[in-house]
Amino acid sequence: MVKAAILGFGTVGSGVEEVLRTNAALIERRAGTAVTVKYILDIRDFSGTPFENVVIRDFERIENDPEISVVIETIGGARAAYDFTRRALAAGKSVVTSNKELVATHGAELLALAREKNVNYLFEASVGGGIPILRPMLQCLTANRIEEVTGILNGTTNFILTKMLEENVSFDAALRDAQTRGYAERDPSADVDGLDACRKTAILADLAYGREVCPDAIETEGIRGVTLEDAENASRAGCAIKLLGRSILREDGRIWAFVAPHFVPKTEMLANVTGVFNAIRVTGDAVGDVLFYGQGAGKLPTASAVVADVVDAVKHREVRRVLSWEPAPVSDTQDAAPYVADLADMPCAFYVRGEAGDAFGRCERLSADALITQVMPTGEFREKIAALRASGREIHSVFRVL
Ligand code: HSE
Repeated sequence: MVKAAILGFGTVGSGVEEVLRTNAALIERRAGTAVTVKYILDIRDFSGTPFENVVIRDFERIENDPEISVVIETIGGARAAYDFTRRALAAGKSVVTSNKELVATHGAELLALAREKNVNYLFEASVGGGIPILRPMLQCLTANRIEEVTGILNGTTNFILTKMLEENVSFDAALRDAQTRGYAERDPSADVDGLDACRKTAILADLAYGREVCPDAIETEGIRGVTLEDAENASRAGCAIKLLGRSILREDGRIWAFVAPHFVPKTEMLANVTGVFNAIRVTGDAVGDVLFYGQGAGKLPTASAVVADVVDAVKHREVRRVLSWEPAPVSDTQDAAPYVADLADMPCAFYVRGEAGDAFGRCERLSADALITQVMPTGEFREKIAALRASGREIHSVFRVL
C-alpha cells in the first residue's frame, strides 16, 4: 500500500481526495497497489468533518514520515508550495502537483532535484486541467519537431468570453458566475489579465522546445479590453474571440511566445471551444496539427490529472519519468538575441476598432469604425497604431487574428 499526503485542501486538493476515495478499487488495480491518504496539510479547522483525523498543520510530520512516498501539492503559489516541494523531494518523496506558478517559475530546479533524488516531480494538471497534454506531447509526439503550440489555456476567461459573445452578458456578471463555479483563481486577475495562461504557455514551451522559458519573457495581455462592441464585430467577421497562449518556433531556433486575445475564424476548431473548456493545438513537423480538448478547470477534471500522475509516480518508483528542460539560456538575461524573440517581425493580421481611416490600405471593413488588416509584421502594425494615436485619433481595441 502507498501512503500519500495532500498539501492544501481547497478545490483541487479535496477533488483529489474524492477521486482517490471514490475510484479506490480501480486506482488500486491500475497502480498495482492501494493508494491511501495518510495526511492532509491545511491551516483551516476541519474538526467535525470526516477529515478531522488526517488533517495536520505541521509539514515536518510529512517530511519525516518514511511511510509517505507521494506528496500531492495543491496549495498553489510559489511560497509555501515551493518550500514544501523542495523538502519533500529532498526527503526522497515523489511530488505531484497542479501548481502552474511553481512549475513555470521553478520547474527546472525542482526537476533537477527530483533527478538527483531519483524520485518524480509530475505536473500534468498544471496545464489544461483534466486534458492529457504534457505526457502525450512528450511521448506520443516525440518523433516530431514541435513547430507551434497554441491553446485556450484558461477556463475562466474562455467562460467569460463565451458568455459575452453568445449571451451578451457583461464581463463582471460572467466573472462572478465563473467564481461561483470554482473555476477562477483566488485572485481573478491571474485569470483575466492572462497571467495564468502565461504560466501555462511557459510550461508548454519549456517541454515543447526543451528550454526554460521565463514567464516574464512572455508578452501577456488579458481580456479586460474586450468589449461587447468587439464581440459584435467578431461575429460580423465570422470569428470568435479567444484568449490564446502561443509559442512558435522560428527558423533561427528561437521562439515567439505570447498571450493575447485573438479573433479566431469559426472555421478553426479552436473557435468552437466554449465555456470552461480548454484546447491545445500542437503542430509537429511530421504529424501536422493535433488538438487536445477537455475541461481545463474545476475540481474533478483537475483532480483527474493529478490522480493520474499519482498512479504514474506509484508505478514508476524504481524508474524515474524523464521530464526536463534546459535552464534558460544566458542570452535571456542580456540584450542580445534573447531566446524568446521580440514580436516585431512576427507576421499577423490585426483587428482594429477606432479612427484608423485608411492607414492600413486594403483591408476588410467590418463596420464604420472596425476593420481587419492584411498580414503584416507586428512591429510595422504597432508603429502605425502609435502614429495614429500620436495624431489624436482614438483607437479603442486592437487584437490579433489567428
Ligand atoms: N483558473 C484556472 C482557469 C484554473 O480558469 O483555467 C485552472 O488552471
